[in-house]
Amino acid sequence: MRPCCAFAVCHVFMLVLCLSAAEDFDWTKNDHGSFYYGTFPAGFSWGAGSSAYQTEGAWDKDGKGLSIWDVFSHKKGKIQQNDTGDSSCEGYYRVKDDVSLIKELKLNHYRFSISWPRLFPTGIKSDHINERGIQYYSDLIDQLLENNITPIVTLYHWDLPQVLHEKYGGWQNISMVNHFNEFANLCFERFGNRVKYWITFNNPWSVAVEGYETGEHAPGLRLRGTGAYKAAHHIIKAHAKVWHTYDTQWRAKQKGQVGISLSGDWGEPVDISNQKDIEAAERYVQFYLGWFATPVFHGDYPQVMKDFIGRKSSQQGLGTSRLPTFSPQEKSYIKGTCDFLGIGHFTTRYITQKNNPSGRSSSSYFTDRDLAELVDPRWPDPGSEWLYSVPWGFRRLLNFVKTQYGNPAIYVTENGVSEKMLCTELCDDWRIQYFKDYINEMLKAIKDGVNVKGYTAWSLLDKFEWDEGFSERFGLYYVDFRNKNKPRYPKASVQFYKRIISSNGFPNQREVENWRRKAVETCSSSNQLLAADPLTSHMEMVTEIVVPTVCTLSILLSAIFLMFLLRRRN
Ligand code: NOJ
Repeated sequence: MRPCCAFAVCHVFMLVLCLSAAEDFDWTKNDHGSFYYGTFPAGFSWGAGSSAYQTEGAWDKDGKGLSIWDVFSHKKGKIQQNDTGDSSCEGYYRVKDDVSLIKELKLNHYRFSISWPRLFPTGIKSDHINERGIQYYSDLIDQLLENNITPIVTLYHWDLPQVLHEKYGGWQNISMVNHFNEFANLCFERFGNRVKYWITFNNPWSVAVEGYETGEHAPGLRLRGTGAYKAAHHIIKAHAKVWHTYDTQWRAKQKGQVGISLSGDWGEPVDISNQKDIEAAERYVQFYLGWFATPVFHGDYPQVMKDFIGRKSSQQGLGTSRLPTFSPQEKSYIKGTCDFLGIGHFTTRYITQKNNPSGRSSSSYFTDRDLAELVDPRWPDPGSEWLYSVPWGFRRLLNFVKTQYGNPAIYVTENGVSEKMLCTELCDDWRIQYFKDYINEMLKAIKDGVNVKGYTAWSLLDKFEWDEGFSERFGLYYVDFRNKNKPRYPKASVQFYKRIISSNGFPNQREVENWRRKAVETCSSSNQLLAADPLTSHMEMVTEIVVPTVCTLSILLSAIFLMFLLRRRN
């Protein structure tokens, strides 16, 4: 038997076997390959991230306009527990505090996003520019720089101005390209003297598929089989336009870089000796990451997308493919519009071939792919339902990027793991394990020759997790959302990540084990602080409500008593 066949059989066998063995499995021992002790290249940039709608709060303050997420989250039944990002972490008011957390972690960079409707309340430049919004981001940038922290700024992390949605249908409409370009241009003009790393779009896959295909995300449209492809088409054009704007108008003066942040799960064939599974797994990645990366690096959609969607469209009796096409001019305009590639990566799937019926009613992005996704039940999934910890998939995805797109400079813009809401546990051993293993796989990828320049832990704080509301916590810092001051508490992973950063890698087994032990030891004191928090909020209520009320009442009573005495005298 060829070694690969043995492995393939083993794969399938494990998937079957683990169905019965799942309960006994200790996931912390789920090592796929050995741990690599070593350091990252000098100058490797360590960071953490956030996004505007997820953390800022202040949704209607200081002249900000509505975004599609403000409106979507206010509709009943769209978000877990009907949570909204109205106040979230109150990041808008906590710049100083959050910068000191970033300093505490000794991060080299901080990734955040700019809320488009905070700068242009209607999304349209000629309507109004909100200087107070500009001031907020300007202060944040200044404070980061004063502390030697490089800002990496995302221009679009999903909060489209509501007016643009209502007037034009948002990303379904080509006019977004120019509006977005004007917004980006203003950001370059006002912040570009200080910001040198720009990300046009964060995870456009989610915007297209969840916003316009499944409707789980704002604006909540369910345009199956067409909506996602159309949105993506306009997003790719908008990205290219903004890159060219920077290239022709700002680059020479500001000397920065413009990239895009794409997310992608890794897809591993269920049976690696089965050609159909191998192709299905490749298709999975091409429909995910390749959908955006291939145009940006090579000028057009992946061939496999064109083939599959084109064939299904004609079987459905359509005259043209549901996947839009780029003209030759557009192709050359889009090709090469990426100074670095941002990668957001969290998890992996096993993939097998599965033929879907091609009827018109069943057409969708998902059925177009002709595949099925599987997970190994032994994979740990401590938080979000979709997020299984599979560190080795990260190395494979990074190597895929290297070979497919000519080894571009990569910044990992998101990587991390969540926990469930009710868990007020700051001793997040599972997150330490996740970071340790994923960061180690990234180190192996760098040894493989992948050009990874930086890593961004997702996320700095617990925050609003889109349709999951506050029920999933990704933060290095715990945020107590019950307390109106939204206090932040370090989880154990803060200590562990800090050690990785200060050693620029993993020195040796003894030390790394020590870091872990110490991190878990110190978190118990933070746990006590957090446990005392209801008391703190109670005391706040005493000082802010009870004391003033009692004082006012006492004054009133004294006045009445005094009047009574004076009357009796007379
Ligand atoms: C990717 C999104 O960009 C980010 O906003 C979100 O928090 C993470 N996925 C986790 O779901």
